[in-house]
Amino acid sequence: MKGVSKLSQPFSKTWSLWHKNGRRFTIDPLWPAEICQTRVPRNANMEKLQNGYLFPEAAGLHEEAPGAELISLGVGDTTQPIPRLVTAAMAETCHALSTSEGYRGYGAEQGNEELRKRIAEVIYEDMGIKQTDVFVSDGAQCDISRIQMMMGSNVTVAVQDPTFPVRYGWYGRIEYMRCSPENLFFPDLSATPRTDLIFFCSPNNPTGHAASRAQLEQLVSFAKSNGSIIIYDSAYASFISDSSPKSIYEVPEPRRYVAIEVSSFSKFAGFAGVRLGWTVIPEELTFSDGSSVGRDFDRIMCTCFNGASSIAQAGGMACLSPRGSRCHEEGHQWLQGQRDDAGGGVRFGWAGGLRRQELPYVWVHFPGRRSWDVFGEILEKANVVTIPGTGFGPGGEGFVRVSGFGRREAVQEACRRLRRLFGRRSVVVRKRDYSVGATEDAAAASAPVLLPRI
Ligand SMILES: Cc1ncc(COP(=O)(O)O)c(C=O)c1O
Repeated sequence: MKGVSKLSQPFSKTWSLWHKNGRRFTIDPLWPAEICQTRVPRNANMEKLQNGYLFPEAAGLHEEAPGAELISLGVGDTTQPIPRLVTAAMAETCHALSTSEGYRGYGAEQGNEELRKRIAEVIYEDMGIKQTDVFVSDGAQCDISRIQMMMGSNVTVAVQDPTFPVRYGWYGRIEYMRCSPENLFFPDLSATPRTDLIFFCSPNNPTGHAASRAQLEQLVSFAKSNGSIIIYDSAYASFISDSSPKSIYEVPEPRRYVAIEVSSFSKFAGFAGVRLGWTVIPEELTFSDGSSVGRDFDRIMCTCFNGASSIAQAGGMACLSPRGSRCHEEGHQWLQGQRDDAGGGVRFGWAGGLRRQELPYVWVHFPGRRSWDVFGEILEKANVVTIPGTGFGPGGEGFVRVSGFGRREAVQEACRRLRRLFGRRSVVVRKRDYSVGATEDAAAASAPVLLPRI
């Protein structure tokens, strides 16, 4: 065929899922003996994206090692059943679709009015957010990608380092805002150059740090003085257990002029597979030419999305009902127990990061070690899958993330194995008060200590 050449040599490619020990965990994709090569150039941004994304690789380990009795505390996938009250609402909407009275086709691209209103009233109570500022979607990750599409690839971007990897890959210039034990996991904004966008996640996945009110005020005034837009990811806001803000819109004006907020039902409501999220763009937020950011996002939603599933939205309505909220409160307590179990398993990691982490994960510090080496050691000797910290950015070196989302028995068994593996070690950690809201003086005042052997 004209314009299409055939590669005559069959080839196969075997690559290891983790860097050091390809012996046990390899992938042998079945490459066709003959492939066609088109003349369509590859989008250069795709290569950057692919290289940076490791969760599917870590998840793949589970399937690639039959008989190894692997326990996955890697990917932050939810495991707890959704409360019956919520699934009943989804089932009712679903069944109605098989009746002529209840059948509905496309819904509004921005989400159904009632759900937008409920999100504005329940999540953003007294924050001045209107129903029309809320766009319902199929999840935060998809919204972040659509925001990137709206902003184009010429804008400059600052991201926390480490952070959730979806933020990496699209942009020419990325400034990494280091979040480490030394700065109590909040970036030094005085050392951060001006960028058009600032991606900020709180509580930050993976560090678990929830920004205090004072820190968010600092962030907002930094964005304001630079004329930047903050893209604030609050997917884990419901895990915040102290008075730290759960939304960027909790800090005083002019937050509405500088911030977009993206959030999700995945973690707090167990909707990871159902797919439901939302984005808030206050109508006051504008581009440098004075045009409305919300109007452009509306256009993106109408042309690239076509609206969230009506069944998922019915579930979202039930989640935000008073009874639904109570169910999720119980779910959270369960998850926090799980996370504490996971923290007990690795014990010293707890203090190596935060005294209290506002996430269902533990961010474990192994000072002086490479995160892939630690990941490999835990995988090989304990058969437990974690996530190497560098998967979240260069600042994750020396850390691994352990998820508490697993099934209870699995988490407990993983903890037993981790205790066996690390039980004979003593590890130096800084006994600082990394808890949210702790003053830097109080943190600096306490000296490093040696934890006792477990
Ligand atoms: C910080 C953060 N934001 C967003 C997401 C994705 O959310 P969603 O399932 O709504 O796409 C995740 C998933 O792990 C996350 O960690």
